[in-house]
Amino acid sequence: MRSHYCGEVTEELLDQEVTLCGWVNRRRDHGGVIFVDLRDREGLVQVVFDPDRAEIFKLAEHIRNEYVLRMTGRVRPRPEGTVNPDLTTGKIEILGLELEVLNAAETPPFQLDENDVNDDLRLRYRYIDLRRDEMQQRIRLRNQVSHYLRSFLDSHGFWDIETPMLTKATPEGARDYLVPSRTHPGSFFALPQSPQLFKQLLMMSGMDRYYQIVRCFRDEDLRADRQPEFTQVDIETTFMGEDAVMALMEEMIRGLFKAILNVELPNPFPRMDHCEAMSRFGSDKPDLRIPLELVDLAEVMKAVEFKVFSGPANDPEGRVVVLCLPGGAALSRKDIDGYTDYVGRYGAKGLAWIKINDVAAGREGLQSPIVKFLPDDVLAAILEKTAAKSGDILFFGAGNATTVNESIGALRVKLGLDQGLVDRETHVGWRPLWVVNFPMFEKAGDGSWTALHHPFTAPATMSVEAFKADPGKVLSRAYDLVLNGTEAGGGSERIYNMAMQNAVFDILGISQQEAEDKFGFLLTALKYGCPPHAGIAFGLDRLVMLMAGAHSIRDVMAFPKTQTAACPLTSAPAEVSSQQLRELNLRLRKVDVDKSKMDKGSVKQ
Ligand code: AMO
Ligand code: AMP
Repeated sequence: MRSHYCGEVTEELLDQEVTLCGWVNRRRDHGGVIFVDLRDREGLVQVVFDPDRAEIFKLAEHIRNEYVLRMTGRVRPRPEGTVNPDLTTGKIEILGLELEVLNAAETPPFQLDENDVNDDLRLRYRYIDLRRDEMQQRIRLRNQVSHYLRSFLDSHGFWDIETPMLTKATPEGARDYLVPSRTHPGSFFALPQSPQLFKQLLMMSGMDRYYQIVRCFRDEDLRADRQPEFTQVDIETTFMGEDAVMALMEEMIRGLFKAILNVELPNPFPRMDHCEAMSRFGSDKPDLRIPLELVDLAEVMKAVEFKVFSGPANDPEGRVVVLCLPGGAALSRKDIDGYTDYVGRYGAKGLAWIKINDVAAGREGLQSPIVKFLPDDVLAAILEKTAAKSGDILFFGAGNATTVNESIGALRVKLGLDQGLVDRETHVGWRPLWVVNFPMFEKAGDGSWTALHHPFTAPATMSVEAFKADPGKVLSRAYDLVLNGTEAGGGSERIYNMAMQNAVFDILGISQQEAEDKFGFLLTALKYGCPPHAGIAFGLDRLVMLMAGAHSIRDVMAFPKTQTAACPLTSAPAEVSSQQLRELNLRLRKVDVDKSKMDKGSVKQ
C-alpha cells in the first residue's frame, strides 16, 4: 500500500512522488493550509494540504489525531526557517496530492506526547502507549538484542530447542503457576520457572550446546525488575567448565554492547567472590559505579557501652558497619530522617550518624546524637578506618548481619543515586562484574539449609564427606553476571553424579521419596551416561532495560503485568464459568471477591 516509510522520506527524494501510510500524530491549520504530521514505525513526516485541491483539502479538514491515512504526495524542501533539525525528515515536507482515510479514530484516552500518564491507563490502552516513540525505540532495541544473541549463539554451535511449558515444578525459589489437567482429574501442570531440568536432560541427550529465548513463570512478589512472566536467554553446554562458560558469555555480552550501543565493555570482566561483595557492598549484586563502601566496625565496637553497637559486634550473626558519604555533612535533618525511614523499610531499627564538621578538632568537630556514647579511641579508630574528612557524614548500621547488609547496602545505592555519584540516564560507566564462589547453602530462619542457586548446582568440592561435614562452608561453582547493580544473569556447573545429587538433597532436607516424586526423571537420567555440563540464563528483559536506560522491565515488554500480577488490557486473570470448573473437577472456596477485584489492575511502584 505504500512506497516508503514516513521516517524514510528525506531530501534524497526531492521532487519525487511517494505514497505513505500511517497515523496522524497532529493536525494544524495555518492560514488556509493544513499540516499533518504523519507517523509510522520509522518516524514522522510533515504533509501539507492546500486549498487548491479542494476535495482532499475538505477531507483533511476532518481528520483527527490517530486517524489512519494513506496519502500520495510530492516531496519538496521546507521553506526557509521551518527546517526541523530534530527530525530525519526535517528538511522536507510532502505536498498532498491524494488522500484516503483508511480509518477514523476516537479521541485517545491520553495523548502520545503526554508525560506522567497513569500506569494503569497506559497498560489498559497498551496498543496506544506502544505507538509512542520511546516505546517503539525500546521494542526495536529488544528485537535487536534478541537478534544479536540468536546469531551469536547460532554461530557458536548452539541449537535452539524448545522445552515444554506444561510441565512439572522446577525449583527456582518462587511459587509455581499451576494449570489444572482436565484429562487427569485432580492433577496439575506447573508452568516452568525456568527450563533448568530440561536443558540438563538435553545435555544428557548429547545435544552438546543448547539455547532458547524462553518465557519463564514465577509467582513472586513483583518489583521494578521482576515480572511474573519474563524471558530468559537460557543456555547450556556440555564438557565446558565455569571458566569456559564465563569466557564465552563475556564475549557474547561484549559483542552485544559493541554492536548495539557502541560501548566497549572491559575484557575480561572483573570477578569478585560473593563474600567480598557482601562485606564491601552489603550486596551480592554490587553496583560498582557507586564509589562508596561499607567498613566493618565489629572489632572497634566490641567493648563500647552503647549496646546498639556492642551487641551485634559480639554476636556471630551480627554486623556493625559504617558508610562514609563525602560532602554529606551538608545533609539536612529532614534528609537524614528520610534515609532513616528508607533503611527502616529493610528492617533496620535506626540509622546512627556522625557529621564531621572539623576532622582536626577531635570530639568538638563532630556533630551527632551518638558521639557521647563513644570513647575517644573508638572515634579515632572510626575516623581512621573511613578516612573521613571535614564535610563528610558517617552512617552506621548495626544488628543482624542480613538486615545490616540489606539496609546499608540499599542505602549505599540510594545515596549514590541521590547525590549524583552515578549517571543513570546515559550509557557511561558500564560496570559488569562476575560474582563467583557463592556458598552452596544458606540457613533459613528456621535453621534449615536452602540452596543459594538451585539444588542442581555443583559444589566446588567433589568429596561428599567434606561437604556433609560443614555445609555452611561449602562453595559452589555458580556465577552471576551483575551489571550496574542488577543481576543480569546467573548459572553454574551442574551436579552430574547421583551420589552428590543425593547428598545435596539430603542437606536440603529433601527426602529420597520427595526427590523421587519431584525429580525422579532427572535422577534416573543421571544413571545413563550424564556428561559434565554447565550453563547460564540471562534475563532478557533486564538486559534490555539496562541497555535502554529504562527504570523497570515493564518498559521493555510489550504487554507486561501490573505490580499485582494482573493485565488491565485483557482483565486477566479472570473468573471462569462453572462449566469450565466442572470439566476440570475444580470447586472454588469462597474468597473475599471484593478485595481481589480491588487489588486487580492497580499499579504501585
Ligand atoms: P535465575 O533464577 O538466576 O537462574 O534466573 C536467571 C535470570 O533470569 C532473570 N530473572 C528475572 N527477570 C525478570 N523477572 C523475574 N521474576 C526474574 N527472575 C529471574 C534474572 C536472572 O539472572 N535456571 C537458572 C539458570 C541456570 O542455572 O542456568 C535460573 O533460572 O536476570
Ligand atoms: P537510641 O539509643 O535508640 O535513641 O538510638 C540512638 C541513635 O542510634 C539514633 O540515631 C538511632 O537512629 C541509632 N540507631 C538505633 N538502632 C540502630 C541500629 N540498629 N543501627 C544503626 N543505628 C541505630
